[in-house]
Order: sequence, then structure tokens, then C-alpha cells
Amino acid sequence: MIPWEFLGEAQVPGGSILRLTRRKDEFSIRTEGYELMNSRAHGSEEVLAREAIQGLSRRKTSRILIGGLGMGFTLKAALDVAQENAAITVAELVPEVVTWNQDHYGHLTDHPLKDPRVSVFVGDVSTAIKKQGPWDAILLDVDNGPNGLTRNGNSRLYSKRGLLAAKQVLRPGGLFGVWSADADQIFTKRLKECGFNVEERHVKARLKNGSTHTLWFAKK
Ligand SMILES: C[S@@+](CC[C@H](N)C(=O)[O-])C[C@H]1O[C@@H](n2cnc3c(N)ncnc32)[C@H](O)[C@@H]1O
Repeated sequence: MIPWEFLGEAQVPGGSILRLTRRKDEFSIRTEGYELMNSRAHGSEEVLAREAIQGLSRRKTSRILIGGLGMGFTLKAALDVAQENAAITVAELVPEVVTWNQDHYGHLTDHPLKDPRVSVFVGDVSTAIKKQGPWDAILLDVDNGPNGLTRNGNSRLYSKRGLLAAKQVLRPGGLFGVWSADADQIFTKRLKECGFNVEERHVKARLKNGSTHTLWFAKK
């Protein structure tokens, strides 16, 4: 069996340690004994971006916020469907994750950070939500989901207060999209209570097989 090669590790501010490893052309980021990301499972992350952006009005320049970068599959899917003049900000809390993309696995997604439509915000996506709006779409894949947190500070993003803060900086008709490893009926209810028009989808990690993930498309 081919052994995993250690490529680096990084501290998540206020959270755990991320470890990047590689086995031939497969990359893995693990935290606290489980796999947070694997370069072979990205179907649901891509559906999140594609469907959110295809649902936006095509008449104007779209301002899109993606949190976080991870292995860049959501960003790549967004670039594939976004307009030529779209402006996409990707917010990533861990600086090393940005460097890993540039140095190790950017080729898997056509080096999305080199696309002129992309700007990187190194920091907490909640800051970008509040300070850099208005947004046409805010796409969140920063954790395991609303109730499976690897970083305590992320819980506020999914709280009523966090949802209302996002809604406030969305343009009319704008979309708030959320990825989660698990379904969460309480979160669906919370989105509706915040006045979003909510569509919940269950999507396979590897498109045709693998675990089933949950996506929320919440329209303002
Ligand atoms: C599951 S990964 C995202 C995977 C990504 N969708 C992809 O296609 O590869 C989560 C990423 O969010 C970052 N992150 C976690 N909390 C964050 C926050 N509050 N703001 C910005 N980035 C955050 C993590 O460092 C990690 O890179």
C-alpha cells in the first residue's frame, strides 16, 4: 500500500490543527483524527456553487462571497458558471490553506486563485460578510455544518443573529447557500424564521455514490 506523505500542518485560529497529506495524486486534510477534506470527494461542494450562481440574475455584475477555500472545489465550480465580470471573494481563515492551494493542489482545480475575478480575504468569513458587502451570494462551507463544528467560533455564523447579519448584506433576490455533512431540521426552521425562502437538497459527495450531504439555498 502506498503510504501517505506528510506535507504540512496549520493551526486553525480558535480551533484544531489541520494536517495536509498526499498519496500519489490524492490529497487529504485531517483534523483531530478524522478527514475534513479529500480531493476525491467534492461533488456536493460543487453543486452548492453551481446552483447558487446559476440562480442569480444575469443582468448585473455579481458579487459572490465563498467561505472557506479548502481545496478550492467550490471556488472552481463558481468560476465555471460565473459571468466574465463577476467578482468572487474567497474568505479563508487559515493562511496555510491558501499557500497549500498555491503550492500543492491548485492544479486539481485549474489554479482558481490565479483567476482575475478572484480575491482572497485571509480571515474570518463573518468579517467579510459584514464589512465587504453587499453580496449577491454568500456560500458557506467552513465547517461540518450548523451542528457539527470543528471550531466553536463558527457557531455564530449559523445562529439566528448570524443569519440575519448575512441577510442584511444580501442584495434583494440574493442567495445564502450552506453546505453540511448532515441534515438539520432545526437549521431549516431557523432559516425560514429569518425570512428566507428555503430550498433544502440532499446531494452525494461523489455525485453518484458516497455519503449524502445537505445543502440549503436560502433566497432573500
Ligand atoms: C470543509 S473546508 C471547505 C472545502 C471547500 N468547499 C472545497 O471545495 O474544497 C472548510 C474550510 O473553511 C475554512 N474555515 C473554517 N472556518 C472559517 C471561517 N470562520 N472563515 C473562513 N474560513 C474558515 C477552513 O480552514 C477550511 O479551509
